[in-house]
Amino acid sequence: MPLLVMLSFFLTIAVMLALLFLLVFYTLKNGISPMPTSKKVKRALIKILPDMKGKRIVDLGSGWGNLIFPLACKYKSCDLTGFENSVIPYWFSCLINHHENLKIQRADFYTLTLHDVDMVVCYLHPKAMERLGKKFEEELKPGTYVVSHLFAIPEWKPEKVIEVDDLHQSKVYLYRVDTK
Ligand SMILES: C[S@@+](CC[C@H](N)C(=O)[O-])C[C@H]1O[C@@H](n2cnc3c(N)ncnc32)[C@H](O)[C@@H]1O
Repeated sequence: MPLLVMLSFFLTIAVMLALLFLLVFYTLKNGISPMPTSKKVKRALIKILPDMKGKRIVDLGSGWGNLIFPLACKYKSCDLTGFENSVIPYWFSCLINHHENLKIQRADFYTLTLHDVDMVVCYLHPKAMERLGKKFEEELKPGTYVVSHLFAIPEWKPEKVIEVDDLHQSKVYLYRVDTK
């Protein structure tokens, strides 16, 4: 019996270390951890979003699903996809996703083509916004909305910027492709 207890103890530790390793590995690879959008930012962000019906919405780097789940509730008639490449948040968000209009896919979002998207949301980092800005210019159709939490797209002119009353006075940028 004590041997069995010891075995399960070491097995639990090994699994936890493997999960931790995966989290750290993808955080280093992506240059950002799966840090969720806070409640305050979510509320403010959802308020400024336009009404959309039957459109395609993507979250580039959907993490644990903190932002894309409330968006799936707001935009019931839309088709939403969260793209995430970090395996732990990906598995977790797949497991808890019960929205019929939302798919979570494991993918590196730089490899996607975004021609058919009507709204992009993201919470990333300055380098990613610089790289994505160029990708958006090439691929997004006029009129597409881009919403970025915290980091602006260099050289793009936002249609709206809101400052959230939180610890960091976080900003949310709302762009429209033809208003660049
Ligand atoms: C700060 S989190 C934001 C999570 C979620 N969008 C939210 O607002 O709660 C950024 C996420 O982007 C993911 N990510 C970063 N680069 C990525 C890439 N190239 N492809 C897919 N996911 C990526 C990270 O793994 C992380 O989960």
